[in-house]
Amino acid sequence: IRIYVPIDSGALSVGAGDVALHITAEAAARGIDIQLVRNGSRGLYWLEPLVEVDTPAGRMAYGPVTPEDLPSLFEAGFLSGGMHRLGHGLTEHIPFLAGQERLTFRRIGITDPLSLDDYIAHDGFAGLRQAVGMESAAIVKAVTDSGLRGRGGAAFPTGIKWNTVLHAAGPTKYVVCNADEGDSGTFSDRMLMEGDPYCLIEGMTIAGLAVGATQGYIYLRSEYPHAFQTLQEAIRRARDAGWLGSDVAGSGRAFELEVRLGAGAYVCGEETAMLESLEGKRGIVRFKPPLPAVQGLFGKPTVINNVMSLAAVPLILARGAAFYRDYGMGRSHGTLPFQLAGNLRHPGLVEKAFGITLRELLLDYGGGTASGQPIRAVQVGGPLGAFVPESQFDVPLDYEAYAAMGAMIGHGGLVVFDDSADMARLARYAMEFCAIESCGKCTPCRIGSTRGVEVIDRIIADEDREANLALLDSLCDTMLNGSLCALGGMAPYPVKSALAHFPQDFGIAAAATA
Ligand code: NAI
Ligand code: SF4
Repeated sequence: IRIYVPIDSGALSVGAGDVALHITAEAAARGIDIQLVRNGSRGLYWLEPLVEVDTPAGRMAYGPVTPEDLPSLFEAGFLSGGMHRLGHGLTEHIPFLAGQERLTFRRIGITDPLSLDDYIAHDGFAGLRQAVGMESAAIVKAVTDSGLRGRGGAAFPTGIKWNTVLHAAGPTKYVVCNADEGDSGTFSDRMLMEGDPYCLIEGMTIAGLAVGATQGYIYLRSEYPHAFQTLQEAIRRARDAGWLGSDVAGSGRAFELEVRLGAGAYVCGEETAMLESLEGKRGIVRFKPPLPAVQGLFGKPTVINNVMSLAAVPLILARGAAFYRDYGMGRSHGTLPFQLAGNLRHPGLVEKAFGITLRELLLDYGGGTASGQPIRAVQVGGPLGAFVPESQFDVPLDYEAYAAMGAMIGHGGLVVFDDSADMARLARYAMEFCAIESCGKCTPCRIGSTRGVEVIDRIIADEDREANLALLDSLCDTMLNGSLCALGGMAPYPVKSALAHFPQDFGIAAAATA
């Protein structure tokens, strides 16, 4: 009998490790022979620890399971799919999962993350096998044709970036994976690295073949110790099996990979600060140009992509560019793993094609707020993303449609607030976050964010509101247009959106009626 208990750190944080130990002990005490598989998470976090049991009909789900529930689960015959109050039927039929379009996440929660056999049995390395028989330019063309755009947040076309590196001069080039997932409410990179590490390894190796790089680095935030261990072990096993090293998959071409840990600075997710950090220096933003694609790590042409961008690549090579391109809308092709967080009944990971709306994500998948109160605002795209009000919940999640309303999809993180949220305080929090995390290189961000906090404080305290609102508006414009990188450049988004959609929280409506 095969039982699955996730080893994903989200599941571990709510007791999956204990549940696994108790299942083994309970089965031994009852003389039942089981095979316990530690899988990735299915992304249904409100059901974690989610225990699955293999039955002839498919995998049956039970959750959230605590060690105290196990005796009754065994009594109910859950090992053969028996009924229990924690049972949800076939995992694949749970509506949260059944409605998704899982491309990048197609294996996560299903396989044993570190089993190469499992990976290969689920189409693993099919993309790399395809790539080793192709010219570099043909690989780049496939990625370009797929329409894949940078999933870290900026949505720059991945194929065009790779093409710049392919044509950059010099024998030494690098592939760097940005795994410094710092946005609030985001966890898709972590889930993938913990739940399907070979997918990232495969994507990076394909990138290496595509641009002529023989060395890759994964820049991982130190707050992800489980991902670190999993990646280290996966790289070792992939190398031993010939998928990495001096002769990748018998191609005669080399590609090596290393994981480097960050030290906890949000700005090190900015690509040039990340390069500084990788080079052993303090994480301070570099001027662009030169672009990293031309002069990146150690001054060499460097592909820098987010985990999600690289993890989308194996499928594109395996199934063809058109297959991927057919998902989505407008110029937003493919799928995005949306991360539902904050005040929701059903937080978790929902991978859907672009074009889905916030309303569908929040109500059909997220189940509304956990508090039962109406949703007031959703911050989309991290701590510096705009607050989207209910009136905009039907705008399709498409890069261009979001930009047109002064918001951005970013890395796909959604943080939900109910009607108890004070939007002026949340705007202040965003400014304060920028002040704390600023690398200090440019004045609009270094000084502007601190002054911004002070100005918002004065508005909240009703000190000369009109003058301070005008000052805040002008300060936001300066930061937006004058900052060197997106940290200072985006801090005005939450502030301006909060002001535009929730003026009453800044006392503006009250001032008008006074
Ligand atoms: P950007 O628009 O300056 O650049 C996007 C990417 O395209 C960069 O890698 C850049 O080097 C590359 N690029 C631009 N022109 C190119 C060309 N001609 N050839 C080759 N490559 C080219 O945006 P940036 O500053 O890199 O990223 C900002 C975004 O980061 C924000 O929109 C935000 O959503 C996101 N972000 C994500 C976080 C996360 O945790 N995932 C955290 C903070 C911000
Ligand atoms: Fe540094 Fe802020 Fe300027 Fe970015 S915007 S370079 S984080 S000071």
